[in-house]
Amino acid sequence: MIYNQIYELESVSRNQDIDLNINPEEWQKQSVKWGHPIHSICSYMASFPPRVPHYFISRFTKPGDIVLDPFSGRGTTPAEACMMGRVGIGSDLNPMAVVLTKAKVKMPLLNSVIRRLKDLEKTFEPRSVRELPWQIKMLYSKKVLQQLCHMKEGLNLTRGSVDNFLMAIILGGMHGASSKANYLSIPMPNTFSMSPNYVKNYIIKHKLKPPQYDVFDVIKYRLNRYYITDPYAMKGEAHLSDIRHITKYMKRRKASLIFSSPPYLKVIRYGKLNWIRLWMLNMEPQELDNQLDDKHTMPKYLKFIKSSINECSKVLEDDGLCFLVVGQVSGNRGPGKDKSVNLGNMIIDDLEGQVNMDFIGVIDDFYNKDSKVSRIWGVTKGNATKYDQIVVMCKDKHSIKKKNYTMKIDWY
Ligand SMILES: C[S@@+](CC[C@H](N)C(=O)[O-])C[C@H]1O[C@@H](n2cnc3c(N)ncnc32)[C@H](O)[C@@H]1O
Repeated sequence: MIYNQIYELESVSRNQDIDLNINPEEWQKQSVKWGHPIHSICSYMASFPPRVPHYFISRFTKPGDIVLDPFSGRGTTPAEACMMGRVGIGSDLNPMAVVLTKAKVKMPLLNSVIRRLKDLEKTFEPRSVRELPWQIKMLYSKKVLQQLCHMKEGLNLTRGSVDNFLMAIILGGMHGASSKANYLSIPMPNTFSMSPNYVKNYIIKHKLKPPQYDVFDVIKYRLNRYYITDPYAMKGEAHLSDIRHITKYMKRRKASLIFSSPPYLKVIRYGKLNWIRLWMLNMEPQELDNQLDDKHTMPKYLKFIKSSINECSKVLEDDGLCFLVVGQVSGNRGPGKDKSVNLGNMIIDDLEGQVNMDFIGVIDDFYNKDSKVSRIWGVTKGNATKYDQIVVMCKDKHSIKKKNYTMKIDWY
């Protein structure tokens, strides 16, 4: 079998003799689209498909355990954990990621969402939109702009889960290519925001007119998709936090499993590529990009990963496992002809013995290349990944050896 290899690091696995019996085919046989519809409430770049954390949560935790993702992005890991009766905790330094994660781990009752939506609809009054930036005005009809401004002012994200949930729905519907009353903008990709000048020229060239939708109708249409079941019983947490400060919100609690994916390596600018959604959140794209750790050169990146692993070790149970999904990054970053870098192997080669965790191995997760967001539009221009690598670590190899992982995976 060429694909799906699990490389065991000679220096580590020979001594440790740890066999977690992980078989990537078990999650790869599920579709990349597998999972509860709430996962797709809003697109987010470099998110992993729910089938991956689902497999690891089933195999390595039991109901009631804490599952943590300190780079939670759109909240895939904590959401899956909550659906499976675990306590899903997510944090991220990107406030947009926190809105999306919170919407999934604190899914409100549908009745409360509808009640609040009716209140907002009742208090809506047309207003002038002349002062709005041209970059936003060119995307939407006048009525949609007025309604978006009303929602921006009316929704209070610190108030509770209902307002946050409505904001997550709006963010997901702000732009997309569908012809149905599903996306509010002129047709454009929903995965990322193209540059304002590119959009402007595209609109002129194709003589595009903003669609005449109603924000409240689009929200109702989208709501129907997510409430296919009652909200799952287990509630989780979403925190705005740098990885370096996760002990603050974890307090004395420890996670049984950390399943996460740090920023890759100069691959994605979450600010620049989300300028439309960030307008809705009153955030400056450049400011966000200055804060996030997604533009380091290799030595700084490895230093960042080293401190991230050490922070994770502080909040992991002694018999807990930590999995970090990292991409294979190509394009002038490594040695050899194709200059690609296997980040997983590189992390282990460089950091073994220097972090407060033991490396167990690295798993190659090949996926259908067409499903990778960064492939779809070439954001990374040669930096897109062919497969992900999953770095496997434990806090204490002796405790891990004693455990018997025989959980059956339930693909709901
Ligand atoms: C690869 S994405 C995670 C995607 C996630 N697994 C999902 O399924 O949506 C990496 C995340 O790291 C976040 N990030 C970057 N620097 C950070 C930092 N210093 N502390 C916490 N999060 C950070 C980014 O905002 C981004 O959401």
